[in-house]
Amino acid sequence: MRKGTKMKAIVYTEYGSPDVLQFKEVERPTPRDNEVLIQVRAASANPADWHLMRAEPFLARLANGLLKPKNPRLGADVAGRVEAVGSNVTQFQAGDDVFGSMPLNELGSFAEYVCANEEAVALKPAKMTFEQAAAVPLAAFTALQGLRDKGQIRPGQKVLINGASGGVGTFAVQIAKSFGTEVTGVCSTRNLDMVRSIGADHVIDYTQEDFTQTGQRYDLIFDAVGNRSVSDYRRALSPDGICAVAGFTSLSRLFQVMLLGGKKIGLMATAKGNKKDLLFIKELLEAGKVVPVIDRCYPFSETAEAIRYLEEGHAQGKVVITVAHNN
Ligand SMILES: NC(=O)c1ccc[n+]([C@@H]2O[C@H](COP(=O)([O-])OP(=O)(O)OC[C@H]3O[C@@H](n4cnc5c(N)ncnc54)[C@H](OP(=O)(O)O)[C@@H]3O)[C@@H](O)[C@H]2O)c1
Repeated sequence: MRKGTKMKAIVYTEYGSPDVLQFKEVERPTPRDNEVLIQVRAASANPADWHLMRAEPFLARLANGLLKPKNPRLGADVAGRVEAVGSNVTQFQAGDDVFGSMPLNELGSFAEYVCANEEAVALKPAKMTFEQAAAVPLAAFTALQGLRDKGQIRPGQKVLINGASGGVGTFAVQIAKSFGTEVTGVCSTRNLDMVRSIGADHVIDYTQEDFTQTGQRYDLIFDAVGNRSVSDYRRALSPDGICAVAGFTSLSRLFQVMLLGGKKIGLMATAKGNKKDLLFIKELLEAGKVVPVIDRCYPFSETAEAIRYLEEGHAQGKVVITVAHNN
């Protein structure tokens, strides 16, 4: 790799609204020994991007710098073509099409090129587009790890997914179905058909009905919204039921779940990318058991608009960024 080669990337040097995102020329990275250099063809946006960009909640500053961002780059999910490999890389070679996600302290896929540890990526399912593949990793890890690790999902269970129409929820519905469970998806009126179409056995329109007041009990609740109280969850859970909360709408909700949830109701651990889970998800994709739902694709230069849209909180599936190259 020629030193001094430039590329375009999204860079932010102060916290704030999407207005702080600059579409800028920077140095193209060089892969370390265990890394691949990926020519990014598509990336997807996650709430983590705007939480870090805004440093909201304030706790985000502990992760990425008190006054200004230590890592000035955003973007976890990536799909693209391997351009070069580090000297210790054994699993990939230049020309391979891959997908995966960066750890939260090393974001940087909103760029023409990004380096990733070879353990963080896998070969892209051949039949998927780069946009589809980029839509998957972090949201699917969150759904899988929430349902399986925190939720202890088992076949035959009644599972409720709150926020079934969002980036994480659309994967949670499909992954829960793949475990052989009976799935109820909670979403608003305009998303009922979409949530049914990805496999939910039942849907509840949250604008018409409160899922905690129906008398129905669930063995597992996976909450990708985090807008309910601990007593709401208790009311909707079967006696041995588990509730895994992936997100939260306010710090008071977060602290209530942490302090009062007990063993059965709690926050899932922050989702972590790893090769084993990526390959597990890849199998589901190749078997057609999980199909990414893409709401919108934005051109790379309009990444700020993509984040602005995601922050509104009404995405129907995933928001994807397409990175075009001249070659
Ligand atoms: N723990 C982790 O490691 C981890 C990882 C990734 C994400 N997360 C968190 O998980 C949460 C979900 O992420 P995401 O990517 O799915 O976000 P997202 O795509 O922005 O979620 C938007 C979706 O939420 C739905 N929604 C909003 N209010 C709702 C309500 N009251 N009831 C049911 N659905 C509602 C919206 O539908 P309508 O427009 O129809 O309301 C929309 O489809 C976020 O809080 C995120 O920070 C956590």
